Amino acid sequence: MTKPTVIETRKVTKTYNVNAAPVTALVDISFAAEENSFVSLVGPSGCGKSTLLQILSGLIPSSSGEVLVDGMPVRKPMPDKIAVVFQDATLLPWKTVIQNIEFPLEVQKVPPRERRECARAMLSLAACASACRSRAASRRIRASS
Ligand SMILES: Nc1ncnc2c1ncn2[C@@H]1O[C@H](COP(=O)(O)OP(=O)(O)OP(=O)(O)O)[C@@H](O)[C@H]1O
Ligand SMILES: [Mg+2]
Repeated sequence: MTKPTVIETRKVTKTYNVNAAPVTALVDISFAAEENSFVSLVGPSGCGKSTLLQILSGLIPSSSGEVLVDGMPVRKPMPDKIAVVFQDATLLPWKTVIQNIEFPLEVQKVPPRERRECARAMLSLAACASACRSRAASRRIRASS
């Protein structure tokens, strides 16, 4: 039995326009990912992996082509369907560790008590509860400590 396709791209092309000098990052990328599959994008630096992931998650538009998630065209971020972990730590250095964890919930207007409970649970899960009042950039968090 074939599994349903959850992510599909059809001839996705992306050209960035930088100071009137176009940079072509992707040309005619088509693939399909099945439900419950683990898919890796592999290629040399600059080949367009991050660009494709940003398009798949609705963070930037493609120049042409189509992206479907659960059969629906992606036109904007869909936080209930797609989560993104960025290549670089996108932490706010002036906030503490726990404030950084809470930040996406703050943006979603989750009440303070609820977001603090959720953030504490996440820190405990990663065995990092002792780091919650540290500044995000002040020390490395060790999962084993
Ligand atoms: N915002 C942008 N504006 C202009 N050009 C960009 C932008 N983002 C990426 N590019 C260019 O698009 C191409 C693909 O970049 P991308 O970051 O998607 O590659 P990558 O495969 O993720 O690379 P890496 O392995 O280094 O992370 C590169 O030539 C890059 O310089
Ligand atoms: Mg990248």
